Amino acid sequence: MPEDSEAIVKTAIFPVAGLGTRFLPATKATPKELLPVIDTPLIQYAIDEARDAGVERIVFVSHPSKSAIERHVQDDADLRERGKARLARELKQAAIDEDLHDVVFVMQDEPLGLGHAVLCARDNVLPGPVAVILPDDLIVGSKECLSEMIAAYPNCDSGHMVATIDVARDDVASYGILSVLARNGRVIKANGMVEKPDPAAAPSKSAVVGRYVLDAAIFDALARQTPGVGGEIQQTDAIATQICTTGLSGFAFSGQRFDCGSKQGMLAAGLHLARQDPAFDAVLDEFVAGQSSSTAA
Ligand code: G1P
Repeated sequence: MPEDSEAIVKTAIFPVAGLGTRFLPATKATPKELLPVIDTPLIQYAIDEARDAGVERIVFVSHPSKSAIERHVQDDADLRERGKARLARELKQAAIDEDLHDVVFVMQDEPLGLGHAVLCARDNVLPGPVAVILPDDLIVGSKECLSEMIAAYPNCDSGHMVATIDVARDDVASYGILSVLARNGRVIKANGMVEKPDPAAAPSKSAVVGRYVLDAAIFDALARQTPGVGGEIQQTDAIATQICTTGLSGFAFSGQRFDCGSKQGMLAAGLHLARQDPAFDAVLDEFVAGQSSSTAA
């Protein structure tokens, strides 16, 4: 990360209040953010990405029924003492060290939308732009998405920056979609953004996924924002109202994104990460070999 971009973004907001009904019964007693991809809970990938990007504070916008998330991020010395040395080290690394990072939990009691969730964090952010990470969107690759975005942010000439991927025309109705003005390498200059458009009316196939670097002015827009798609306060709509004043860029990150808000995406993420790890790759090879021999028989 270039020196001048270091510590510009001091706060990461994690909206984690959703009740995860798509994953019932797995989420009956376990927050969806704690469901594992192999052995690592989804939220841990997001925490690691935020810490690696240099943020000083993580604000979790959670729900009273999801206190297990608080237990997950806390260091548990008793548990470490009972474990073997390697396990104890892993647990320590996963927990957030409150000497190095502030951890704040605020509650979003009602599901009023992503924009409302981010607004709930307002009184707890540090000065400057904020990052928003949606842990459901797992992004893996040789460079971490938020670090890439923060490195590109000072030169993108926009106060708001959103991570983007290209999607199929039929899929645009699941995303915030940019109206694209120009592309310069990984940076996409946008002059509009619309939440979950009809495929026939979508301005492009450039879709927003869950990483944002937002100018602090976003909180004023969110406070004014009226409900949009689904009757919810949409972050997309609030960003769109500030394109003329604050500016908006998309960022085509280098990693691969998995929609772990869906069962298919969760399975694909597990298979992808298994392929990267020699300890699990052999299991996949065996499975594939077994499939082809049973087809041949
Ligand atoms: C949210 C945002 C949407 C974005 C998506 C990325 O939608 O509102 O703009 O494209 O996350 O995952 P959700 O998937 O929560 O409905």
